[in-house]
Amino acid sequence: MEQLTLIGPLSQIIPMTGMSLKGPLSDDKLHIIENGGILYADGLVKKVDVYKKLLSEVENLNVHMIRLEGNHICMPGFVDSHTHICFGGSRARDYAMRNAGKTYLQIAAEGGGIWDTVIQTRKASQKELIKGILKRAKQHLKNGVTTIEVKSGYGLTVEEELKMLRAIKEAGEQFPLNFVSTCLAAHMHPKDFTGDKTAYLTEISEQLFPILVKEKLTNRIDAFIESGAFSPTEISPYLSRAVEMGFDITIHADQFSVGGSEVAVKFKAVSADHLEASSAHEIELLGKSNVIATALPGASLGLGCDFTPARKILDAGCALAIASDHNPGSAPMGDLLTQSAVLGTMEKLTNAEVLAGITYRAAAALKLSDRGQLKAGFLADFSLFHTTNYNEVLYNQGAFKPCMVFKDGKLIYDKHNSQER
Ligand code: NIG
Ligand code: FE
Repeated sequence: MEQLTLIGPLSQIIPMTGMSLKGPLSDDKLHIIENGGILYADGLVKKVDVYKKLLSEVENLNVHMIRLEGNHICMPGFVDSHTHICFGGSRARDYAMRNAGKTYLQIAAEGGGIWDTVIQTRKASQKELIKGILKRAKQHLKNGVTTIEVKSGYGLTVEEELKMLRAIKEAGEQFPLNFVSTCLAAHMHPKDFTGDKTAYLTEISEQLFPILVKEKLTNRIDAFIESGAFSPTEISPYLSRAVEMGFDITIHADQFSVGGSEVAVKFKAVSADHLEASSAHEIELLGKSNVIATALPGASLGLGCDFTPARKILDAGCALAIASDHNPGSAPMGDLLTQSAVLGTMEKLTNAEVLAGITYRAAAALKLSDRGQLKAGFLADFSLFHTTNYNEVLYNQGAFKPCMVFKDGKLIYDKHNSQER
């Protein structure tokens, strides 16, 4: 027998319903329910409506009431569709070198960069990796994130990639957020691999892909298309094999130079992420495709480079997701709310566009059609912020955090009861 729960009254609910998947969104498109309530059961939303109406509808039913004191606004749980929170070590040295004038690619060539994290991650046990993932996931939860994507890509051998993906799976089983894992074995050509890039990619697709399927470790394959990583020509057979085996594709594209987004479109990737270097040609291509463009402002802030041209991408008719890219190298901050608010400021995005980018459009980038909006049948994943006006959330650029976070209808974070207040 399902247990009905009614939560409210809420000064405003922003259900993120009735808006398009693609293209620009004006703020008047945001549906706002004043003095609202949410009725849910078994982790799923039953109805979102005016609180008093819901109260009278459940009058004669056995309902668990969560009666809120004071003012709260409510939004769907955020979806962070691109992170690398499974790793060992730190790259503080890269940060210092970068600020002293070295480029990301120069630092990589001098033994820093992704390879440094590969060495540190290989040294870590699966248990230690899980500990790190959980620590970082907690930080995301405090930002109202209820679904998080996590990539491998710092193992770069069959066994070490498996260690990472098993750690991600186990961490997800131990933590109330939903984890979506992605295999990024094509992050770079491992420096200790005896063979060229093609030989490495062939080994991964022949030996690792079948185990990913067998152990249900992931159904997503990512690749970094860049001069220091893989070219479109080098990566194509690898992606073809992944598609043949039924994997979804996502691409690290156009971060420093173009080429990746074209591959994403060609392979009908679910998303093309980064796009800081995309020019009019790439933006037009993406705009005509169904690929979700994902901006990663945390990487721009971390590296001190241009932001993804999010305004132009939206105006070209694309769906824009915004993710933290949380990783030890280019984006150690891992604060989705701060980063998406800053991107909104820098790129002149409406609040509707930013919020869509971290809710239903980010869910679409992960092919999840049951979250990112608050409506009947969707997951009861939502956050409450202590205010009367939803505009306060982005306006405060991440300094204003949720006071409560619910996942599948369960309170999983309460700021007032948090030990780390
Ligand atoms: O998304 N661009 C490639 N991969 C990551 C960075 C990884 C790292 O520097 O460790 C990114 O920015
Ligand atoms: Fe990334």
